[in-house]
Amino acid sequence: MSSKVERHVLFNRHEIEAAVRRLAAEITEDFRHKNPLLLGVLRGSFVFLADLIRLLDFPLEVDFIGLSSYGSGTQTSGKIKVTKKLETPVPGRHVLIVEDIVDTGLTTAFLQKYLIRRKPASVKLCALADKPSRRQVPVNIDYLGFTVPDRFLIGYGLDANQKFRNLPDICSLEAEE
Ligand code: PRP
Repeated sequence: MSSKVERHVLFNRHEIEAAVRRLAAEITEDFRHKNPLLLGVLRGSFVFLADLIRLLDFPLEVDFIGLSSYGSGTQTSGKIKVTKKLETPVPGRHVLIVEDIVDTGLTTAFLQKYLIRRKPASVKLCALADKPSRRQVPVNIDYLGFTVPDRFLIGYGLDANQKFRNLPDICSLEAEE
């Protein structure tokens, strides 16, 4: 039996843009007087973060942390690796984590603990996508774009084996028999 992989658009670029605008309005309301540190989680969040910050018209700073748990496979290894350290001092800062997707929650739970040890003023989470059906640890998402089904997603920063991050739409990869 042969199978091939098909790509289906789940959220197109216009739907993504509308979601990013809504999130930017919510974040503006809460952070415009707080000089927040927006912390992008590499690599997946870089496209979302780049679009989001251009809709935030108030003082803020941006830094990145590299975290990875998936290696080259599609299943989480459960073990989070810091692949790039955060360079900005965290004590006293209002930190907004920016994620492309929360899946098992292990990456976010790791990062929240990592940040809280460094004594921030606050830590909140903005995620473009949430896949609650896969959750292993509880995670509270303060600013959420989309709830997504349990499918393998690519595009708008999300990868399959490091490919497809450049697609402007969020698509699912489905095996067709
Ligand atoms: C993805 C995504 C999140 C994490 C979420 O990163 O960007 O950081 O997985 O999954 P979890 O909730 O199950 O922990 P990945 O490890 O694939 O690295 P990448 O961002 O470089 O694609």
